[in-house]
Amino acid sequence: MEDVKSTANAGSNIALIKYWGNRDDELRLPMNGSISMTLDIARTTTSVAFDQTYEEDQVSIDGEAVQGAARERVSKFLDRVREMADTDLPARVVSRNSFPKGAGIASSASGFAALAAAATKALGLRLSDRELSILARLGSGSACRSIFGGFVEWVAGARHLDSYAFPLAPPEHWHLVDVIAIVSAGHKEVGSTEGHSLARTSPFYTARLAQLQDDLPAIRGAILNRDFTVLGTIAEREALSMHGVMLTSCPSLLYWNAGTVEVMEAVRRWRREGVEAYFTMDAGPNVHVLTVPPFAEAIRESLMQIEMVERCIVCGPGEGVQYLESHLF
Ligand code: PMV
Repeated sequence: MEDVKSTANAGSNIALIKYWGNRDDELRLPMNGSISMTLDIARTTTSVAFDQTYEEDQVSIDGEAVQGAARERVSKFLDRVREMADTDLPARVVSRNSFPKGAGIASSASGFAALAAAATKALGLRLSDRELSILARLGSGSACRSIFGGFVEWVAGARHLDSYAFPLAPPEHWHLVDVIAIVSAGHKEVGSTEGHSLARTSPFYTARLAQLQDDLPAIRGAILNRDFTVLGTIAEREALSMHGVMLTSCPSLLYWNAGTVEVMEAVRRWRREGVEAYFTMDAGPNVHVLTVPPFAEAIRESLMQIEMVERCIVCGPGEGVQYLESHLF
């Protein structure tokens, strides 16, 4: 084993075509393909070491020891990595986010992407990016996209080895801006893992999957042609389609709060006034306002005028997984 301790950094990503619902919950094989932009500012750094003196897996996120189900999820993921390296050494995992966790910025995406990269490197495994994407997917579906930078597509696939992400275009291809309006930094009530398993209970789910047959190629084309109007129009409707499924699931999932709706209304008002911006939300209340550089600062300032907006994080397209020489412990 060459690397005893390794550290990796990965960006969160904002889905333009969302992943919602699995064909296989255990393997996190999605019902549909999805497309996202990896973010430059909202990122996770994770250091991992394997050593027999740890006795059991120790996990800390943002300075707090992680226990219970969250630690189990990390341990289960590490078991996969240990199996690949033929070892049973316990691990110490220390992770830091540049954003509040569990609030609709996908900390699980950047978290499991960084963990997959750091853990495999620490055990001396040399995986291709595709293999890393497949592995990261087992921790959190959207993590498979965060292995890559820029604009990324996840091919749904029907089996474990067929379901992975690949880069559509590098970060420098297009300087889109994602102004994330944080309307609640609290932890969400129903995590996405549970949410995915409810997707099928919505009568609108089949209609959503049918619509994606058109929307996936349309967003892919809009990225390649840098057509912001097409991208934004479809991304906004697509987010509402996913939330429509969430709202009509049994039990119903409502991820929005009053601030979410206020920002959505404001974005539409600004658009009528000539500001090109569109909104999208993942499984949480925060709103990602997609725009292009000339409008970004004015949008950030206007968002900060909204009482329920606590703060804004202005992101652009970011790099994929990066390995760092300095460690968190
Ligand atoms: O990767 P998960 O299980 O946290 O699911 C992510 C689901 C959404 O963020 C709502 C959509 C997406 O594609 O990122």
